[in-house]
Amino acid sequence: MDTIALYRTTVGKKAVMAVTGAVLLLYVVVHMLGNLTIFSGPGAIDGYGRWLREVGVVWPTRVALLVCVALHFLAAYQLTARARRARGRYEHRRRVQGGYAARTMRWGGVIIALFVVYHLLDLTAGWLNPNGVPGEIHANVVADFRHWYVVLAYAVAVLALGFHVRHGVWSATRTLGVATSRVIGLGAAVVICAGFLSVPFAVVTGLVS
Ligand code: HEM
Repeated sequence: MDTIALYRTTVGKKAVMAVTGAVLLLYVVVHMLGNLTIFSGPGAIDGYGRWLREVGVVWPTRVALLVCVALHFLAAYQLTARARRARGRYEHRRRVQGGYAARTMRWGGVIIALFVVYHLLDLTAGWLNPNGVPGEIHANVVADFRHWYVVLAYAVAVLALGFHVRHGVWSATRTLGVATSRVIGLGAAVVICAGFLSVPFAVVTGLVS
């Protein structure tokens, strides 16, 4: 079967969701670890950012992320439409929105997508940042989290990401037959939430300034 024919099957679309989800998750984990360099003193995270630009990984990463986000969204949309059509045919009077998990994933995905747009305007472009100087990553992050409403926006997005990762990792590892899939999903979500939330928490409490 060629690649396009395989993609047309439900299993093919689920495989695309899993593979692109795994790549996005890898990015999220590396980004979270990168953010933790802020705890290594003033200038550490700025140096890390400079190094990323110097080694030339920024643009290839952006292209890979764009492709993965587009495919992840497309496969999700097509799988939802397919499930809805199938249910419509056999269960005329049933609700068509799907179960709790499906709804959580859909709304979680929307919140994460909206957050990423805001986040890029805030910390990549600097337009929505109170400091907003390119390359001054430490100062930009600290300027952000001095405002409670920015902390709140980031916390909501990180928690939405946590739920999304919990279900996604659980679902993918369960398909692979891993017995502890629930624990792995929950563990991944807790680590990611704790890692990301530690930065605004450190700024709010004055640990990082
Ligand atoms: C407290 C949480 C977070 C902090 C402090 C943070 C910090 C940053 C900073 C400082 C940058 C800009 C780096 C630079 O261009 O100089 C950035 C870029 C980015 N962040 Fe985050 N981030 C957080 C959460 C997230 C989350 C949850 C996601 C994904 C869902 C995410 C995805 C991205 C992306 C896609 C970029 C753009 C990278 C590029 O320039 O190509 N971030 N982040």
